Amino acid sequence: MIMWASKASPSLRSDELMDIREIIMTRKSVRTFDKRKITLEDKEKLCSFMENIENPYGIPVKFLWLDSDENNLSSPVIKGEDDYIAAKVPKVEHCEEAYGYSFEKLVLYAWSLGIGTTWIGGTMKRAHSF
Ligand SMILES: Cc1cc2nc3c(=O)[nH]c(=O)nc-3n(C[C@H](O)[C@H](O)[C@H](O)COP(=O)(O)O)c2cc1C
Repeated sequence: MIMWASKASPSLRSDELMDIREIIMTRKSVRTFDKRKITLEDKEKLCSFMENIENPYGIPVKFLWLDSDENNLSSPVIKGEDDYIAAKVPKVEHCEEAYGYSFEKLVLYAWSLGIGTTWIGGTMKRAHSF
C-alpha cells in the first residue's frame, strides 16, 4: 500500500493550531498537487513521527519514504507527486487493522502540517522491499 504526500493548500493551519477533531473533520484526499516540495523540516517531522506511531494491536508497522523519481513511482489517479510513503506489517492476526490505524495517524499528522495525501493501493517490486 502506498500513499502519496506533497504540500497541499497554503491556507491550511499549522499543527499547533489544529486539534485532532479539526484535523479529522477537515482532512480530505488530495489527488492533484501543486509541485511545491515538502520542506526538509516537514520531512524530518514526518519521518520522526512515522518511526514512533503506535497502534492498539501492538503490531509494528514499518514505513518507508520513497522519492518518486528515484524509485520510478507513478499513479494514474494522482498528478504532480514527488513522494510516496510505503508501509509493511508482519502477516499476523489484525495486521490490516494495525496497518490502517497507523497509516491513518500519519495521514492526519501530514494534514496538520499542511501536507495533502491520498491513499492508494499498490504493489512494489522486490527490489524495493524493506
Ligand atoms: C486503503 C485504501 C486504499 C485506496 N486505494 C486507492 C487506489 O488505489 N486508487 C484510488 O483511486 N483510490 C484509492 N483509495 C481511495 C482514496 O484514497 C480516497 O479515500 C478517496 O478518493 C476518497 O477521498 P476522501 O478520503 O477525501 O473522502 C484508497 C483508500 C484507502 C483507504
